[in-house]
Amino acid sequence: MHTGARKRFGPLLFEGSKRMLGFGAWGIGGSGWGAPSDEAERLGAIALARERGVVWFDTAPTYGDGASERLLGRALGPHRDTVRIATKVGPRDDPRHSLDQSLERIGTDYVDLVQLHEIAEGWESRLETLHQLQHEGKASAIGVCNASHLELTRALTLAPITTYQGPYNLFDRDAEERLLPLCRERGLAFLAYRPLAAGLLSGGFTDPPQFPNGDHRARLYWFRGAEFERRREAIRNLSELARSAGISLPALALRWLLSRSGVTIVLAGARSAAHVADNLRALDAPLDEPTGNEIETAVEAVFRLPAATTAAAREAQGWGPRERFIVERLDGRTTPESIAAAWTDRGEQPMVAAQVKVFADQLRERGLA
Ligand SMILES: NC(=O)c1ccc[n+]([C@@H]2O[C@H](COP(=O)([O-])OP(=O)(O)OC[C@H]3O[C@@H](n4cnc5c(N)ncnc54)[C@H](OP(=O)(O)O)[C@@H]3O)[C@@H](O)[C@H]2O)c1
Repeated sequence: MHTGARKRFGPLLFEGSKRMLGFGAWGIGGSGWGAPSDEAERLGAIALARERGVVWFDTAPTYGDGASERLLGRALGPHRDTVRIATKVGPRDDPRHSLDQSLERIGTDYVDLVQLHEIAEGWESRLETLHQLQHEGKASAIGVCNASHLELTRALTLAPITTYQGPYNLFDRDAEERLLPLCRERGLAFLAYRPLAAGLLSGGFTDPPQFPNGDHRARLYWFRGAEFERRREAIRNLSELARSAGISLPALALRWLLSRSGVTIVLAGARSAAHVADNLRALDAPLDEPTGNEIETAVEAVFRLPAATTAAAREAQGWGPRERFIVERLDGRTTPESIAAAWTDRGEQPMVAAQVKVFADQLRERGLA
């Protein structure tokens, strides 16, 4: 950390605040999500969120190639003092240039939070530049996205990070293993992204979807194959629970997330005012314990990993270290998240549960699990 660096800046963004539903502004950027919805509709989504009390808006230069930042600027400009705007700096971008461009697009002279979007070569010096930009008043706080717990621990020695942003939803729960505990321990705000599994938790996908070219969801493994089947089965049960609770499935998924220990802001993406209104129903009431338990049962039931066969253990001797590591731990009880976290603890290329699940599916197909 820079000598003399203040550890805390400004009125700290999250102090004393209750858990919040934020607005994820990727979709309103108009690309990467199939055909863009009408601009007026996207502006309406932002406006309604703000009117109904949402204060956190999360964007990035890459969302719609700057369009998300511009749209946020237009919708939130007159209310700048009462909202928080968070943007990001790409892993290969010059932080100063990137942030200056973001400020210009948003039409503001500071953002409330600037986050390093990914960890890639040279990330430490980029983080130090973000800290410098914070000193200059261009960002009230700095944060990191998509890091392993070891990288985040290192980041904390380099700059006064206040936030970590990572994927977290009912189905994608790597964060529970190391990152959420670390954030709690170090007093970092945890910003949960993709809370609706990029829309899968809308409940609207009865069959694996065919996304058009350029739609980033075509690359998400849970929209196809065995993972889609598992999630579809869980969604059937979860939809019943949502009906009993008198809310939509997305609202239930967000309510669950808001109840999770260590979560500070849930960044719900929405491209229409109707979705914003629906998502805000998550805040109508806290998650009650019986529903929470039933949610856990519905999710656990579909994600149980198989046990590896002795033939798999034999064959694995000739495989790479990551594959061997997984096979040795496939006992029918250990979760994919804990296997991935145990590998990541070693400090090599991190592993996520998705990789464990996909590999276990391959073993299953070959009769090895
Ligand atoms: N740091 C990072 O690397 C990173 C990565 C991903 C996301 N993020 C942040 O996290 C935010 C949220 O994630 P996300 O936007 O990727 O995904 P998400 O919030 O999991 O899903 C958003 C999508 O769900 C659908 N949806 C939302 N509310 C709905 C409702 N009430 N009923 C039915 N469908 C609903 C919409 O899809 P349709 O519009 O297609 O209907 C919407 O675009 C992003 O906007 C971004 O700010 C950060």
